[in-house]
Amino acid sequence: MNLLTKKPAILVARAIFPETLERLAEHFELETNQDDVIFTPQELAAKLHGKQGLLCTGSGRIDAPLLAQTPSLKMVANMAVGYDNIDLAACTLHQVMASNTPDVLNQTTADFAWALLMATARRITEAEHYLRAGKWDKWSYDAFLGADLHGATLGILGMGRIGQAIARRSIGFEMQVLYHNRSRLSPEQESYANHAQYVSKQELLTRADHLILILPYSASTHHAIGPAELDLMQPTATLVNVARGGIVDDAALIAALRQKKIAAAGLDVFEGEPKLNPDFLTLENVVLTPHIASASAATRRAMANCAADNLIAALTNQQPPNLLNPAVSV
Ligand code: 8YV
Repeated sequence: MNLLTKKPAILVARAIFPETLERLAEHFELETNQDDVIFTPQELAAKLHGKQGLLCTGSGRIDAPLLAQTPSLKMVANMAVGYDNIDLAACTLHQVMASNTPDVLNQTTADFAWALLMATARRITEAEHYLRAGKWDKWSYDAFLGADLHGATLGILGMGRIGQAIARRSIGFEMQVLYHNRSRLSPEQESYANHAQYVSKQELLTRADHLILILPYSASTHHAIGPAELDLMQPTATLVNVARGGIVDDAALIAALRQKKIAAAGLDVFEGEPKLNPDFLTLENVVLTPHIASASAATRRAMANCAADNLIAALTNQQPPNLLNPAVSV
């Protein structure tokens, strides 16, 4: 191929929809990984040799040691809204653009937070396991008594776009919404979010019947829920984490669930996932899912498209729509 018409080379680090690859192939020379091998940092650095772009997911760590080995790299498009896997300061230092996939997953993730909350509060998986195990031989007045959602107080820690979408869904359940966030929402946003009331983190923990975590992970939110926070919660409370592993101290949560300091937890994310603390598997009062909150067919396609849009823009000298470090010029 003539050098003048040579397309930029990119790495698509994880398996992805074939139609996304077809679209990327119109613009780029692709190295793909449809076998979905999880690369070590050394393998990732080697694969990025000579590449200008990278499409990755939350499982790829993009940090200073990697960037020091990838001088040709200009753009990292993360197929996730959270970007705690990317050291943004290091990207900026190395003049590498980075993007995420906000908004396209808000509603789907909010739907899932509710699915997990309902399954947890009403003990759906526990009851299904009982039925599947052939243990159901009679109806009982006190079998699998759970906690009501309707009329209860919903607490939300982290009130960004997904948090607000979660809050809005509580209108139908006639719930009162309390939230805590880095900053207070505008009156219009609070009213959209079922008239959510801004409270201190301590008040949120003590008053919530059901608490949903949907805040970004960073050094400052590491173990935002640990032994002290779990102690403040009601013994009848439900905790749901659809944010990131590491926000909850998993060992402390396991202890609290064992001692019935809270009633139950619904978890889509774990410290060190996809490995998880095996003690979770010994508990009945926990619902566990493998990081699937954004996993609807339409939304995962939208996320892949959004990441592709960002890559295509960045490597064709346009401003990527979701550029995270605008200090790096296109
Ligand atoms: C992703 C997520 O599917 O967007 C996020 O931040 O947690 C999920 O929607 C996951 O991180 C894979 O990249």
